[in-house]
Amino acid sequence: MSEVMAALHRDHIHFSRVLNLLQESLGELRAGEDPDFDLVHDMLDYLSHYADLYHHPKEDVIYHYQLERSSAEAEHIDRLLDEHRALRQITDALRAATDGILGGTVILRQEYADQVAEFLDKQRAHLNLEEAEVFPYLEQTLATSDWAIIEERAPTRADPLFGPDLATQFEGLYRRIIGS
Ligand SMILES: [Fe+2]
Ligand SMILES: [Fe+2]
Repeated sequence: MSEVMAALHRDHIHFSRVLNLLQESLGELRAGEDPDFDLVHDMLDYLSHYADLYHHPKEDVIYHYQLERSSAEAEHIDRLLDEHRALRQITDALRAATDGILGGTVILRQEYADQVAEFLDKQRAHLNLEEAEVFPYLEQTLATSDWAIIEERAPTRADPLFGPDLATQFEGLYRRIIGS
């Protein structure tokens, strides 16, 4: 596997762990309990800072590269590119709703829970399309020379949660994920 794809795949495993923790918070909401909203805030902060601002732009470089060279898988790739924009919007919206709750805004539990559920569905559907269809195709088709070009164009940033240096902000979230 190319180094770029291996790194993106590792990110997906990490995102899944964050999403599984968010799923637990959703379970608490559905049970009529209050989840740890500070923790939910950190999960969304991580996804918006790392997934939306780094992981997705890196994938965008690969997807645009593939679209320039061939129309194969174009339908899936166009969908993934659109989803990157949509995921950023729903992450920002859920983050705003969560920050509102933390700031004392009264919001219907059912409404917020539905928003979390939809967020989880969309994030997971996106990961699944990449892992099941598009990544295996790209891995099979692109040559080492293609990956070298992609590597040059792609942005690099260390993961603040699972990377070599854990950001102070995410220490609590990291402990929860490792312990869960
Ligand atoms: Fe993606
Ligand atoms: Fe991805």
